[in-house]
Amino acid sequence: MTDGLRKGLTSYGDAGFSLFLRKAFIKAMGYSDDALDRPIVGITNTYSDYNPCHGNVPQIIEAAKRGVMLSGAMPFVFPTISIAESFAHPTSMYLRNLMAMDTEEMIRAQPMDSVIVIGGCDKTLPAQIMAAVSADLPTVVIPVGPMVVGHHRGEVLGACTDCRRLWAKYRAGEIDDGEIEAVSGRLAPSVGTCMVMGTASTMACITEALGLSLPMSATIPAPHAERFRLAEASGKVAAAMAAAKGPRPSELLTKSAFRNAQVVLQAIGGSTNGLIHLTAIAHRTPHRIDLETFDKLGREVPVLIDLKPSGQHYMEHFHHAGGVPRLLAQLGDLVDLDARTIEGKTLRQVAAAAEDVPGQDAIRPRQMPIKPEGGLAVLRGNLAPRGAVIKYSAATAKLLQHTGRAVVFESVEDMTLRLDDPALDVTADDVLVLRNAGPKGAPGMPEAGYLPIPKRLARAGVKDMVRISDARMSGTAFGTIVLHITPESAIGGPLALVKNGDMIRLDVERRSIDLLVDEGELKRRSAALKSAAAPPWASRGYAHLFNEAVLQADEGCDFDFMRAKGKG
Ligand code: FES
Repeated sequence: MTDGLRKGLTSYGDAGFSLFLRKAFIKAMGYSDDALDRPIVGITNTYSDYNPCHGNVPQIIEAAKRGVMLSGAMPFVFPTISIAESFAHPTSMYLRNLMAMDTEEMIRAQPMDSVIVIGGCDKTLPAQIMAAVSADLPTVVIPVGPMVVGHHRGEVLGACTDCRRLWAKYRAGEIDDGEIEAVSGRLAPSVGTCMVMGTASTMACITEALGLSLPMSATIPAPHAERFRLAEASGKVAAAMAAAKGPRPSELLTKSAFRNAQVVLQAIGGSTNGLIHLTAIAHRTPHRIDLETFDKLGREVPVLIDLKPSGQHYMEHFHHAGGVPRLLAQLGDLVDLDARTIEGKTLRQVAAAAEDVPGQDAIRPRQMPIKPEGGLAVLRGNLAPRGAVIKYSAATAKLLQHTGRAVVFESVEDMTLRLDDPALDVTADDVLVLRNAGPKGAPGMPEAGYLPIPKRLARAGVKDMVRISDARMSGTAFGTIVLHITPESAIGGPLALVKNGDMIRLDVERRSIDLLVDEGELKRRSAALKSAAAPPWASRGYAHLFNEAVLQADEGCDFDFMRAKGKG
């Protein structure tokens, strides 16, 4: 028997001795033989003093352990890397693959029959799901849940759409030092993840749609008692999965499960980062995310969730309106309701059990959508041969067809230094271009794609401009912003060829982004590009590995050697 404590014995050349030694040592923790003979549920601990989004993880762990033990199994908590968005240098994305490797290897290395991964801050759920998919052990995901909303001068506030909106007001001189200080104490009033439809909320909703977590797990606010009851219930499910040896991620993550996730990503007006993470998860399976299919879904699937930054509400309102189960019920035949969940239920059963909340307006019916089309579009053109993405549900309608003069910034540092220079030659009709901010260029594809409006223009009342880059953008941000231009400029992508004053045409209806410079001139510019030597930051360690192996955005920015063989 190779279950429980007998799984994956450390190699000493004598299996009996390996088990004897393992038991002898673990008994130092005070466990009885009865406890050690039970099926084991591993539970990740991503609590960190640096990660306020995960501030409720200790309580979630306690509740999950209770659920496991109530079901007769044995919980073992183990630590993994924790990544908090605003505490990760150079970027959290740079560390996502490290967390995925750490989590996968610790799941593989230690004896467990199922695993509960607890995460939430932007890159953590993607990393944990990538790990779980590769380890292919029965897995239950418990998101930490969103923060509750804040209040300021009679207005409801949320991290971090309102962080950006109010910081833009501060830059424009509309609010003063005292007020911005007061706001900083009100934007994040509890532990939990950003409570708008940013990357954390997007990934939690996608996880629920993929059937990897229990119904309502994406939306219950982080401090609510309901979240800890959900954790207890998740513990029970994980214990049942340990005994049944399934379902495994490979049984749940089918082609239609990935299609469902894409439909939900569009219908929630989800984060552009969600597309990269979903692509990375799919690359760990035989399935793939095809950008053209994703874009086509966007034309068919309306945005039904009225949450910032595309709409008005916050995650707790989505929760009280019925959460993801109610969304699935509204989506109806747009999703494959026969897809299965960790409980062995179908999404049809989940949707049928959804609460119908009279008078709620956070989850719209299909005949009354927030936007008739989905939130994200994939663009192509001579600037982005392998694609770029725009969250047009959060863009300015009149800028969706726009031709303007390029104002180029060579790097994030260059942009920071020159953007507010009063002498910068820039008008509201120009297109701000940021390059060398892709997966390898920055490195780690920072969320710098939300270039601020130059101060001079902001003070004159300019609220939005077309901005393009090979960077990412926080899911909490908004504006007419083209991201993930692929291939990135640091590896010679066409974005590297743009010069100040070139004309750039964006046409979202046609799904195009083009540099209006003739082909001969582009060839000349391309020939003059110097081939990039390995950057100094990549000389050793994880940085070296990252620079050698990271894939472009259209392939999910995973490491090339972590992918599973695809079915195409
Ligand atoms: Fe952690 Fe937003 S900073 S989810």
